[in-house]
Amino acid sequence: MQKIIILDFGSQTTQLIGRRVRETGTFCEILPYDKFPAGDPDIIGVILSGSPLSVYAEGSFHPDLSPIIGRYPLLGICYGAQLLSYSHGGNVESVGTREYGRATLRTIDSSSRLLRGIVAPTQVWMSHGDSITRLPDGCRCIASTDNVRYAAFESETLPVWGVQFHPEVEHTLEGRTLIRNFVVDICGSRCEWTSGSFVDTTVEELRATLGQDKVVLGLSGGVDSTVTAVLLNKAIGDRLTCIFVNHGLLRKNEYEDVLADYRCLGLNVVGVDASQLFYSDLAGVEEPERKRKIIGSDFIRVFDEEASKIKDVKYLAQGTIYPDRIESLNITGKTIKSHHNVGGLPERMNLKLCEPLKWLFKDEVRNVGRHLGIPANLIGRHPFPGPGLAVRIMGAVTPEKVRIVQDVDDVFIRGLREWGLYDKVWQAGAVLLRDRTVGVLGDERSFEYAVALRSVTSIDAMTADWARLPYDFLAYISNEIINKVRGVNRVCYDISSKPPATIEWE
Ligand code: XMP
Repeated sequence: MQKIIILDFGSQTTQLIGRRVRETGTFCEILPYDKFPAGDPDIIGVILSGSPLSVYAEGSFHPDLSPIIGRYPLLGICYGAQLLSYSHGGNVESVGTREYGRATLRTIDSSSRLLRGIVAPTQVWMSHGDSITRLPDGCRCIASTDNVRYAAFESETLPVWGVQFHPEVEHTLEGRTLIRNFVVDICGSRCEWTSGSFVDTTVEELRATLGQDKVVLGLSGGVDSTVTAVLLNKAIGDRLTCIFVNHGLLRKNEYEDVLADYRCLGLNVVGVDASQLFYSDLAGVEEPERKRKIIGSDFIRVFDEEASKIKDVKYLAQGTIYPDRIESLNITGKTIKSHHNVGGLPERMNLKLCEPLKWLFKDEVRNVGRHLGIPANLIGRHPFPGPGLAVRIMGAVTPEKVRIVQDVDDVFIRGLREWGLYDKVWQAGAVLLRDRTVGVLGDERSFEYAVALRSVTSIDAMTADWARLPYDFLAYISNEIINKVRGVNRVCYDISSKPPATIEWE
């Protein structure tokens, strides 16, 4: 299948470039800047991403572009454009004014194939401290803003283009047109990457690879594992056994509801309620990373025990998706939080891995799910962390605290649905704070828990902003929670963005 290669120089928006390319119906791979797979016959074009670094900074990335330039159509975005210019005799300088945010393209040469159909003035999104101040010989300017003369350029002799702005972000109003011009018109994509074609080829591949072998899969109630299960079920039917472990940290009634939904989908599911094991191992444990480790290892234990009851299993299927695997450049090199659902399973169980969604972005997983006929309530679910409510209970987990946070979450989520807000936010939930606070209930003093509501908008959970829920809704929901949930007398709304905060509190 034809593909575009995106070389990652560490920009926050590299994955967005990937999503935009996929939206054109074209497959793409995101690879570290120095891992160009020269010789791959399916490559039809290359994109160089942005970067937090300056091209002339010590330690900045200068890969050898000779296997690419002149051989494939090449588009440089921000740092990518500066690198193309800098390494071919142009000038890149810090011009004193850093430019972040909206800018307007005032002049556009629409005879350029990259900018066809885009007319000035049009808004673009800039995010750069440096500017190209001279183009390499043989390049010409094709768009400018008031502050940036070389906002876009192209080579007159080679298939090379550069844009100083970010076409992949929504704020660049004609960004999709630009990326489509590059991918479809310039690179010649046949736009053959669709949900239907993905399902057909994947089912065929799964049948060929798995043959008569049996597969086991851990279901979590989330979109990724659900779509994986339905896809595998279509390929191998009952030779797939799904295991759904209740760690006692799911949403209210989620275990029963989801299990029923899965059975309606015709899946062969074994439900295991291991809540008591998790509660007893978590008792008194305050430290967030320690809680995660306990949940991870208990999960493995329970899953392992169930899986070993199935005879002759050869494969472990997982709902791993593309963003989980992209080896993004982490410029700081630090781990913020460890994320794991079922870490360590494959090694211990000696099973081969089967990850049919490993090339898909989240929105593509949802589209595939719809194509497979999975009901909207399962497809549209908000993401939920593997360690569940444990990371939303500050400090030690107790069954009583789980009950409180489940009840608060339930009122909140039902309210969001009733007010038509659920699908407008990326994720929402409730956090139980460590301390109790004073209040008045009737004429009595109360001393009960405070909860925080968290609701964010996001595109990929890498960055997020707090959702601007209507005041009327917040007033309503705060009342509902305090009136209906025993043990809570105060409700706060978290107004932190990520970064610097994270979505989950632990
Ligand atoms: P943070 O809190 O890092 O979360 O901003 C980003 C996204 O990841 C989810 N999350 C997790 N998912 N295991 C998971 O499977 C985890 O340990 C975990 N921690 C956070 C979070 O809900 C959000 O969607």
